[in-house]
Amino acid sequence: MPLAFDVLEEGFGAEIQGLRETDSLGPALVDELRKGLADFGVLLIRNEEITPERLVQLGNAFGELEILPEPEKRHPDHPEIFNLSNLRDDGQVVDYEEPQSVFLRGTERWHTDSSFRNIPCLCTMLYAVEVPENGGETQFANMIAALEGLPSDLREVVNQNRLVHSYVFSRANNPGRMDPMSPEEEAKYPPVTHPWVRTHADGRQSLYMGGHVSHVEGMDVNEGRELVELVLQEATRPEFIYEHRWADNDLVIWDNRSTLHRLRPYDISNTRRVMRRITVAGTEPVI
Ligand code: SIN
Repeated sequence: MPLAFDVLEEGFGAEIQGLRETDSLGPALVDELRKGLADFGVLLIRNEEITPERLVQLGNAFGELEILPEPEKRHPDHPEIFNLSNLRDDGQVVDYEEPQSVFLRGTERWHTDSSFRNIPCLCTMLYAVEVPENGGETQFANMIAALEGLPSDLREVVNQNRLVHSYVFSRANNPGRMDPMSPEEEAKYPPVTHPWVRTHADGRQSLYMGGHVSHVEGMDVNEGRELVELVLQEATRPEFIYEHRWADNDLVIWDNRSTLHRLRPYDISNTRRVMRRITVAGTEPVI
């Protein structure tokens, strides 16, 4: 039986009905999921218990999985799974200022995952193991609609410029002190540039920007950063946003090519939020 996609927010985001845990992920089903992802930007599966093995299987159906830069956050049995949790190894909730909390709070900035790579990722899957009652939502912004809604002067700016994305920059701008990266680790992530406007396989275009952006290529750094901020404000107006209020066992898959996302604040040093994340690698450069 084909999947059903119930739209969440005026054409942006859809809840998938009809995908059962035991369904084998054959080519027809994967094509439906891929098409749904491109059409809606964000896909939601509610209330489905998903084991780490099944999460990896789902990710592999979309492509190769990325291994993320922080080794200490990798799942012990599945290094492709990134533990986005505010619990320390001893099970206690983190302190507000410690590096694990600083890293998590860094995701409160609008961003698109792994845009600091030459070939950035395709999509991310985030599974909720345990979520707080208040706060900790994830917001998604539709960068296709945002580009269409941009005033003409800013549209000209984004069409004419490329952005420099840098992991070293975004990490250094986290909201607090993080453990320094070793020079060897830093050397693995040199800055890369991508066009500010991304053209997709189906011809649609979207803004491509977010928290890993260091500056506008070839422009005075401060002037460029002001422009980036101005465009970001326009691009994240409420009409472009779907906000997901998590329940345990929700899975959200988002298209990093055409959306931005951010974590909303929660009482990070008092309530538990345990998520598992995988990121599917992209296959082609941004054009
Ligand atoms: C992320 O930015 O990858 C995670 C967002 C979240 O934890 O809600």
